[in-house]
Amino acid sequence: MPDLSVEFAGVHLRNPIIAASATPTWNADAMKRAVDAGFGGVVAKSLFGDSASTGRRFPRPRFKLYGWREHPGYPDEKARCFTLHSLEDCSPFGYEEYAEDIDRAKGLVGERGAVIASISGSSFEEWEELCDVVNGTEADMCEVNISCPFAADMGLEMGAGAAGLTPEIAKVVDRNLAIPFSAKLTPEVPDLVAVARGAEAAGADALTVQARISGIMIDIESAAPVGWGSIGGYGGPYLLGYGLKGVSAVASEVGIPVCGVSGVWDWEDIVRYVMVGAAAVQSATAVMLRGYAVAGRWLRGITGWMEGKGYEAIRDLRGAALGNIRSTRDVARAPEGVHVAVEKEKCIGCGECVVSCFYDAVALWGGKAVIDRDACDVCGMCLEKCPTGAVHLLR
Ligand SMILES: Cc1cc2nc3c(=O)[nH]c(=O)nc-3n(C[C@H](O)[C@H](O)[C@H](O)COP(=O)(O)O)c2cc1C
Ligand code: SF4
Ligand code: SF4
Repeated sequence: MPDLSVEFAGVHLRNPIIAASATPTWNADAMKRAVDAGFGGVVAKSLFGDSASTGRRFPRPRFKLYGWREHPGYPDEKARCFTLHSLEDCSPFGYEEYAEDIDRAKGLVGERGAVIASISGSSFEEWEELCDVVNGTEADMCEVNISCPFAADMGLEMGAGAAGLTPEIAKVVDRNLAIPFSAKLTPEVPDLVAVARGAEAAGADALTVQARISGIMIDIESAAPVGWGSIGGYGGPYLLGYGLKGVSAVASEVGIPVCGVSGVWDWEDIVRYVMVGAAAVQSATAVMLRGYAVAGRWLRGITGWMEGKGYEAIRDLRGAALGNIRSTRDVARAPEGVHVAVEKEKCIGCGECVVSCFYDAVALWGGKAVIDRDACDVCGMCLEKCPTGAVHLLR
């Protein structure tokens, strides 16, 4: 049986999969359900400071799904590329209730799962206050949410709007918090690595990379935003590549552990995050759409795959892909001696390749695709698009 346990900033996790701060971790009972289902840890919903207590009351309803029901196979087959748009700012609890809830969660899960508090202040004084709240609890660790995608739009000096203050915030938290903390970063900054380095230098024990982006959707009949009328958190499994890019860039530049988050949908995505350097991996959207039981499926998937490969410990895979990532400058260009060809027996004459070939290199003859090698650019679009796998790359 492969060893899935990891150490994350001094906190032992029986496996690296953490339920991210979101609705599935909104209170102690919810956090217990996540740990019962197999998650190695939970990040509680963020506690905002009293100055942002508006965020403790959400618009209702507060979730919109785009591209979910619209998936042709729905409901038997679930879409992978959909958007979850939401405005669920923070924990509904005030300071005392939050502290009590964290303690209740720890009491319920014990050593089976790490309970990670999450805080977001709007001034340095408020960050100190929030550290005091967490210090009075049994939390194993704390996430410092400098990444909320819509806090700035609430007029608050917090979340993604405070990304420039990351080192100062990390310093205040480092001075005031008694347990390890991970700074949760937003990708909505010009230089994520610089922010990550700043947080590390200021005393962060770990980094959580990266939060969702913000977005808005317009209903064309009313010319108004869909839902509650403002921007909201915007994301989905399609952000996986964005998250992997962020983690790979940060993990190779810092010495503290990184927790990967954004876009996880299947167990392979968790392995992908580990391979780009993540010590632990979080998920919110997949838990919300697939339920807590997804943790068991992911654990079985990872375990079975590792057994098949003969891998003994997941920590041995950490960063395995980093050495294989090259800079865009170093990519091999215009390689010689490659071309594409259609396997006639497999071609069903659907024409998908024809509509997406911008070099006039493919046409249907007698119901089969034929490629003009002189015109073909070997761009690869038909290879990717063909529904039957009839197009092959030949060397
Ligand atoms: C409904 C919802 C509520 C969220 N609430 C919080 C929060 O309170 N604090 C926080 O740091 N992140 C919050 N997040 C962000 C998630 O923790 C996570 O970073 C993000 O959704 C990306 O991961 P995913 O692609 O697995 O969903 C929330 C996300 C969703 C969907
Ligand atoms: S590889 Fe690109 S250029 Fe060549 S036939 Fe396919 S789509 Fe056209
Ligand atoms: S997309 Fe594939 S199956 Fe369809 S016409 Fe082209 S080669 Fe044939």
